[in-house]
Amino acid sequence: MKVLLIGSGGREHALAWKLAASPMLTKLYAAPGNPGIAKSAELVALDVADHAAVAGFCRDKAIDLVVVGPEGPLVVGLGDDLRAAAIRVFGPSKMAAQLEGSKGFTKDLCARYGIPTAAYGRFGSASEAKAYIRKTGAPIVVKADGLAAGKGVTVALTLDEALEAVDSCFDGAFGGAGAEVVVEEFLTGEEASFFCLCDGATALPFGTAQDHKRVGEGDTGPNTGGMGAYSPAPVMTPELVERTMREIVEPTMRGMAEMGAPFSGVLFVGLMIGADGPKLIEYNVRFGDPECQVLMMRLKDDLLVLLSAAADAQLAHMSVRWRDEAALTVVMAAEGYPGTPQKGSVIRGLERAGEGAEIFHAGTAERDGEIVANGGRVLNVTAMGATVSEAQRKSYAAVDLIDWPEGFCRRDIGFRAVEREGSL
Ligand code: AMP
Ligand code: GLY
Repeated sequence: MKVLLIGSGGREHALAWKLAASPMLTKLYAAPGNPGIAKSAELVALDVADHAAVAGFCRDKAIDLVVVGPEGPLVVGLGDDLRAAAIRVFGPSKMAAQLEGSKGFTKDLCARYGIPTAAYGRFGSASEAKAYIRKTGAPIVVKADGLAAGKGVTVALTLDEALEAVDSCFDGAFGGAGAEVVVEEFLTGEEASFFCLCDGATALPFGTAQDHKRVGEGDTGPNTGGMGAYSPAPVMTPELVERTMREIVEPTMRGMAEMGAPFSGVLFVGLMIGADGPKLIEYNVRFGDPECQVLMMRLKDDLLVLLSAAADAQLAHMSVRWRDEAALTVVMAAEGYPGTPQKGSVIRGLERAGEGAEIFHAGTAERDGEIVANGGRVLNVTAMGATVSEAQRKSYAAVDLIDWPEGFCRRDIGFRAVEREGSL
């Protein structure tokens, strides 16, 4: 099978690494890819926004499956345009991608199907949103409706913060994404990420993970795309997985099919586990980054077989097997992240560090035969262990072999699971 993988981050490196292990794979292309992905794929300089060009490439190279990593291309309908050209795609249609592309859309779906989630209001003007906030009080959460590169959410502890967040949305801080806001109840509990492979009708549980979104140790400081993750998420017991499927994922699949937008691809279910069970925080219509990296380490089965089955609506008879070990990934970021990261600093020692861990490239470039930083999140240092503590030790041992003075990482990835293991 010839596969084209779209994307250039650590998530896509992990997907490329796992796809390359498939005996079914005959050729892997990646657009645009990165120097890590280049070890498993031929990089192609395609303009992913030019859907006709992507379809043309697929026809020329007789691509059997396109795997779309990030949400951006899905939300603007790359999947639809490729399917219209009779090209198989792993990833949802534009309509189904609204589960991530519009928070209001997802909240309305939850309301219609009785899916547990935070109470909310949708507002097209600042004055209405503010009136709702004044009536409800803080803490409260303000979200730009559309895609805002992970920056559109304000968890406001005070009324003033919430009102300011409303102004910044309507003042255009997130462009078109902030033309509407969702204001919602502040949920408490433990967060977990849960994944399902979906084929329009069937949703197959596809692992659990927890990530660390804040840049600072102890989960403090500004939000990021994720500074590290581990899998499985201890909080997601088999009972909670079953409840999440029944109360959240299955009604979503049914609702999407009923409105003529069956969901296929990977559904990333962001959950808050509180005293009264799981509640949906948000959906994403792609793998988490860096959650994907730890899932791929633990997946025993052939990823290409599973993604093809999802694209062909054949998941009903599939199962998924995982390694018993835990996996943990530490994100190494360039100084300045999550603000403006410094680019171009040289990274050395990757080969030696790679002997004890998988090092996925997230934001690197090659310059004169050397690897340099080329983004905010730059490397994902990933290891397996019998416990999260052991995976953590191995990941940091590899981090310590990387010679990159301009990079930094959190030293406490996995701390909740490690504490839990310590108290067993
Ligand atoms: P998101 O960008 O939607 O992933 O949200 C970023 C983070 O904000 C989530 O991971 C949660 O930690 C937090 N968050 C979002 N919605 C809520 C909520 N309703 N209650 C509490 N925290 C929330
Ligand atoms: N790590 C969170 C995300 O991919 O959205």
